[in-house]
Amino acid sequence: MDSVQVRLMREADLPSAERASAVTFFESERSTRRVSDPEIEPRSADASQQWVDRMRFFLSIDPEGCWVAIDEVAGARRTVGFAIAQNRAGLWFLATYGVLPSHQGQGVGKRLLDAALAHAGGRPGIFSSSVHPGATRRYRAADFSLHPQMRMVGVVDRSTLPVIDGLREGRADDFAWMDQLDRDLRVAGHGPDHGYMLDTLRLVVCRDPARPGYVYLDDRGRASLLAASDPATARKLLWEALASSQGPTLVNCITAPNEWAIDVGLAARLDIGQEGYIAVRGMPVPAPYLASGHFL
Ligand SMILES: CC(C)(COP(=O)(O)OP(=O)(O)OC[C@H]1O[C@@H](n2cnc3c(N)ncnc32)[C@H](O)[C@@H]1OP(=O)(O)O)[C@@H](O)C(=O)NCCC(=O)NCCS
Repeated sequence: MDSVQVRLMREADLPSAERASAVTFFESERSTRRVSDPEIEPRSADASQQWVDRMRFFLSIDPEGCWVAIDEVAGARRTVGFAIAQNRAGLWFLATYGVLPSHQGQGVGKRLLDAALAHAGGRPGIFSSSVHPGATRRYRAADFSLHPQMRMVGVVDRSTLPVIDGLREGRADDFAWMDQLDRDLRVAGHGPDHGYMLDTLRLVVCRDPARPGYVYLDDRGRASLLAASDPATARKLLWEALASSQGPTLVNCITAPNEWAIDVGLAARLDIGQEGYIAVRGMPVPAPYLASGHFL
């Protein structure tokens, strides 16, 4: 589309990029929703604010990975697409990516992804992919391998919860060994992302030096990111997440090399479903590991 300009994102773009993201994902989730899934709700005001805060953080850490597509019609400019990627040491990841439905299928997404990928400079890459046909087509064309993900849903049968020991609340002075564990599992440490997550999520760690691991939990006790040196520690951390869950819970981003998570979920009487892909290029699928959708 000739009227569309792809350029680096600026802080002033955040409100209109957020609106583009809300509309894009609402429509995409509606069109790819299975009949058994709950109705898709428009993004809440709180979730919109979280999106803006997270993107502002990414802009402050690695602005060269953040791209927008701007359309100008009759002198009025609006954001019609966005690709927010970040480099952390030797790893590139894509935090979010979308083009308004009105502008899809016209090459805008390719221009955005090409710009975000140029920033990778040959680094290995990882992100969580939707099932949207335009997205999977773009990713495979960019040489990413798509690994199907499972998810587990339901209410935990609390009679199945085992006694868990050896865990404690995590703190900022845990980040050094957590970054080392990240490097062992997924090429690079999360670096500044740990600080961002600790501000917004609960951190639980296993500090056994022979078997370290950590999990971030959201306000409903759902595991947002889990990394462990071995499956036994990973299982323990996931049980802790399930023990703190309230109401229906979700364990997301489970790839085939992470069957330990399936075993825990089944033991807690959750149900297995499928959801999207982990896309990787130049690196294996991390394990034992449950990726974060935005921080990977
Ligand atoms: C993924 C996305 C950003 C791509 O943007 P786009 O502007 O449509 O991308 P392009 O036009 O450059 O390329 C998309 C490719 O998929 C095809 N495509 C686009 N929409 C499609 C659809 N609904 N069904 C089948 N193919 C589709 C296009 O023809 C094109 O293929 P081609 O280059 O071989 O012709 C956009 O489709 C989108 O926002 N999807 C919904 C949100 C989403 O899933 N984001 C990714 C999250 S991981």
